[in-house]
Amino acid sequence: LEVDKWKGKRLNLIAETVAGGSEWKTRTRLSDEMSDEDLVYREEYRPQFHFSPRRGWTNDPNGLVYYKGIYHLFFQHNPYGTSWGNMTWGHAVSNDLLHWTEKPDAVIPDKNGVIFSGSAVVDWKNTSGLQKKPVKDKSGNIENPPLVAFYTSTGANRGKGPSAQSMVYSLDEGNTWFKYPRNPVIPHIIGGNRDPKVFWYEEKKNTNGNQGKWIMALYMDKEDYALFSSGNLIRWEKICDIKDMGCSECPDMFELPVDGDKDNTRWVFWGGNGKYLIGTFDGITFKKEGGPFDAKHGGNDYAAQTYSDIPASDGRRIMFSWMSGGQYPGMPFNQQFTVPRNLTLRETPQGIRLVIEPVKELESLRVSNPVTLSVKLKGNEIPVNIPDLKGELLDIEFLFNLKNSESRDTSKTINIEIFGQTISYRKNINTIEMEGIRAPLTPVDGKIKIRLITDRTSVEMFANDGSVQIAKCFVNSRKSPASVVISGNQDLESFEATVYNLRSVWKR
Ligand code: FRU
Repeated sequence: LEVDKWKGKRLNLIAETVAGGSEWKTRTRLSDEMSDEDLVYREEYRPQFHFSPRRGWTNDPNGLVYYKGIYHLFFQHNPYGTSWGNMTWGHAVSNDLLHWTEKPDAVIPDKNGVIFSGSAVVDWKNTSGLQKKPVKDKSGNIENPPLVAFYTSTGANRGKGPSAQSMVYSLDEGNTWFKYPRNPVIPHIIGGNRDPKVFWYEEKKNTNGNQGKWIMALYMDKEDYALFSSGNLIRWEKICDIKDMGCSECPDMFELPVDGDKDNTRWVFWGGNGKYLIGTFDGITFKKEGGPFDAKHGGNDYAAQTYSDIPASDGRRIMFSWMSGGQYPGMPFNQQFTVPRNLTLRETPQGIRLVIEPVKELESLRVSNPVTLSVKLKGNEIPVNIPDLKGELLDIEFLFNLKNSESRDTSKTINIEIFGQTISYRKNINTIEMEGIRAPLTPVDGKIKIRLITDRTSVEMFANDGSVQIAKCFVNSRKSPASVVISGNQDLESFEATVYNLRSVWKR
């Protein structure tokens, strides 16, 4: 526990339940250094470019907000153990979404309970009035707006307290956070209602262009969600129900252009396990047009959240997701996030769908001089080994050309083995599969594109430019050297591969 902020004060340590033989009294000490200072980020199973907590447990990404060139990443954190518990908001910052510096925990449990998931926004117009000394520039914009975050307080009174929505704010660009004194801002409504995701809704019809309001998407109970609105981030009223999502927890909601056309937008409503609705939103009612659709098909991928306040000049919808269920044997930390992804909407033969791709920043980790390969197959299923591979951090782009024939071959059209993980595609059922996780995929102009990104404990697959993405954790023992083996049946004509090594973000 970092105790800096209580410097000069008296510290009372109270142990409530102590196991027999506990050494807590003799092993507790005060130090100016973290006990693992020279070992941290050098551990055997430390993800090399995926976010993971310095130590302790994480699950959901929280409070993703961009402000003044910095991506803030808060995360569900157990600072005191490697399994779920003591929920606290950890905090890390980055200027490229890849190199993270962990800061002291931002929001710690209090009399209202522990700190569950939520979101953060920049209150540009100081609608909350939380900035008591606003400084305005020449055009009247506030130069020091408050950053405001929402989370679920739950489990006060030794776990019995209900869940309610609380607020914290920062007046120093996200460094330190104060609890709002009259928390919770939304008292308990139903069940385990939780995970507030707040965003600013700009009123489009308004001609002077600066009217709007805050919207909060909230998980209610069972498979139901609701929307709330507010003018000042403090008083909230319910405006709309969103029912039967086919999932629970961790909502997100955002507007995106279809195929980049700003005059043709849709709203996406997103739930904990990656089910999403496509629809319209007029500031009061979300009207569903389609869904729930599946953005993921299983795998290690849950409770994703997108960034707030990405500048319009960038315009991306950037998402992190928890790679739930990964194993990190013997490590002082537990769990990691996916690579950052960018979400767009694409018109497909089946209708409008989300497309999910790694952000372009990831390419900055590519080491130059990739291994390239172009192979014409003779329909003989002879495996092709990509030669000269080194390292475990790979970013591979495959382009597979399928034969034009109408064959009924039911065997694997494409098969890739990488670090003991299998990725395959079957043309007869238009299905891609990674380690038993299946998703529909149809060739585009007779081609299948597959991008694979491997880290020490995970592989992520993106097919046909993000129409399908699957994330999978595994423990790479690294006993054997890197090997990527490709085979195919008579329907595969040829393939090209470009294999980049990726740099670790921890090289110091
Ligand atoms: C999702 C979740 C959230 C909750 C948080 C608690 O993984 O269950 O609904 O806020 O984790 O850690």
